Amino acid sequence: MNVLAINGSPHGGKGNTALILDPFLEGMRDAGADVELVCTRDLDINPCLGCFGCWIKTPGQCVQQDDMAGLLPWLREADMWVFASPLYFDGPSGSLKNLMDRMTAFLRLPAEVRSGRSRHLVEDEVKGGKVVLVSNCGLWEIGNFEPLVAQVKGFCRHVDREFVGALLRPHGQTLRDVLRRGELVDDVLEAAREAGRQLAREGRVSKETLDIVGRELVSLEEYLESMNQKAKRLESRLDSE
Ligand SMILES: Cc1cc2nc3c(=O)[nH]c(=O)nc-3n(C[C@H](O)[C@H](O)[C@H](O)COP(=O)(O)O)c2cc1C
Repeated sequence: MNVLAINGSPHGGKGNTALILDPFLEGMRDAGADVELVCTRDLDINPCLGCFGCWIKTPGQCVQQDDMAGLLPWLREADMWVFASPLYFDGPSGSLKNLMDRMTAFLRLPAEVRSGRSRHLVEDEVKGGKVVLVSNCGLWEIGNFEPLVAQVKGFCRHVDREFVGALLRPHGQTLRDVLRRGELVDDVLEAAREAGRQLAREGRVSKETLDIVGRELVSLEEYLESMNQKAKRLESRLDSE
């Protein structure tokens, strides 16, 4: 299986998204998948111009000459796309959204009804593949991801690909903090790896595994307390400068 993972965090491999994405991709490799990873921070991908040149002038190709030209064929070849992003105002990061918008090049002007809704046709090479989401967010509740999951599911319906699940890590900075303190979160990282193995072998991840990836690391009270302490430390540092 060919997997193309896109990390949309501006922090790339050093960010909180990568804390879950990296073991997940390792797990897929363990299970024999051929995995490539790109970070949007290393790519020059402009926003979609909305000109529909990729439908009308040069079907399947964007009129803009940037890194999307090289990425489109790569995406066509991949059986599975991994969209990884920090949660930004309940959605994906801007750079990942730009990349998703530029995939309009996979659609064509003619329309049909699919699953009860009008949709544009999709290139044969693209449809039928799989999409998985990996995300982390700053806030405490896993429910913060609901709009993003709905958006990626909607995207999958447009490109006629199967949404095969989401690894969601709420209070993502807390994961980094507890790792730094040396506290035990091996189960979370191991579950991310196991999710990769399951997905590569069975095409699915069990709910138990996803629940461990997103498990509560601290109580809501502890989370609020630590945020408010951080804010106080910051305030006094700024005052003394
Ligand atoms: C522009 C912006 C918007 C954000 N919006 C949300 C949000 O809606 N909900 C949330 O829980 N965290 C939000 N965050 C926090 C990030 O999701 C969080 O810091 C995450 O751990 C960053 O991951 P990264 O290190 O991979 O970039 C936002 C951060 C930024 C910079």
